[in-house]
Amino acid sequence: MRKKVSIIGAGQTGASTAQRIVERGYADVVLTDVVEGLAEGKALDLQESAPILGFDSRVIGVTTTTDGKGYEATAGSDLVIITSGVPRKPGMSRDDLLSINQQVITTVVKAVVAQSPNCIIIVLTNPVDAMTQLAYHVSGFPSRRVVGQAGILDTARYRTFLALELGVSPRDVEAYVLGGHGDTMVPLPDHTTVGGRPLRALLPPNRIEEIIERTRRGGEEIVRYLKTGSAFYAPSAALAEMADAILLDQKRILPCCAYVEGQYGIQGLYVGVPVKLGAGGVEEIIEFALAPDELAALRRSADAVRALVQAMKLS
Ligand code: APR
Repeated sequence: MRKKVSIIGAGQTGASTAQRIVERGYADVVLTDVVEGLAEGKALDLQESAPILGFDSRVIGVTTTTDGKGYEATAGSDLVIITSGVPRKPGMSRDDLLSINQQVITTVVKAVVAQSPNCIIIVLTNPVDAMTQLAYHVSGFPSRRVVGQAGILDTARYRTFLALELGVSPRDVEAYVLGGHGDTMVPLPDHTTVGGRPLRALLPPNRIEEIIERTRRGGEEIVRYLKTGSAFYAPSAALAEMADAILLDQKRILPCCAYVEGQYGIQGLYVGVPVKLGAGGVEEIIEFALAPDELAALRRSADAVRALVQAMKLS
């Protein structure tokens, strides 16, 4: 039997993620949204691409209510990907979204858990570190079954900029960006290699710094161009990579927003760290040997996330 994935929010990222997953062919997808007909229309359009592209996955769309009704079709999902919420507008920080999306995520997670008590949840909605902590809190799930997407996207941006700069394939840039998904994210140039060679041997420090700065502002750069809405091609690619890792039990080592309990000196908080992602969800938090300044930057980033979590006043 094919795996079942539900995607909450049929906007730019949710629909693109649905497309990427059904085209892989190993899972059926239920797409939901509160905008009447949006999920149904996009799901049907996607389904009609199957004869051309040659996949067997089923995809259906359903309209849910803002108070969490209409989730029956998501029942028994193996994986639920939450993209519902309000995206950033120009000039808005991810943190400005906190209170609006807190309400959305609380309702959505309750409805999801009632239908799929054994699923794994991936959260995309921003501010993602706080929203993932909220999903963990509301779901009552073990932390390994709740994970957020941020680090794969931030790392992909960093790898892209380095590959463009060096004229090499992005596949040959190996790197990790840790920390919260915001201005305090922590790219690790000392853990970055290009075809096995250390980055520091290939680029001068000031150029590396400029690329790190562009990475930090990577989301904003796109929001500035688009004016309405934010990035979705790379975010949906990141979500699909996480779905592969979980549903195909790939045991990938990927930077994800995961619950840290003492590792890196951080306690009881969702923040971006390398994890082993497989059928069990977050099967392990990987501890890199970080230099003192990298560790300090990661802890500062965790402090910024903690401030957001405290602002949600979870009891
Ligand atoms: N339940 C289901 N869907 C909802 C709900 C809800 N309670 N509230 C909003 N939505 C839907 C919207 O109707 C919209 O179709 O979520 C969708 C979000 O899609 P987009 O606005 O296109 O945003 P997108 O670019 O996909 O980004 C998704 O990721 O970048 C973050 O925080 C950002 O919330 C944004 C999310």
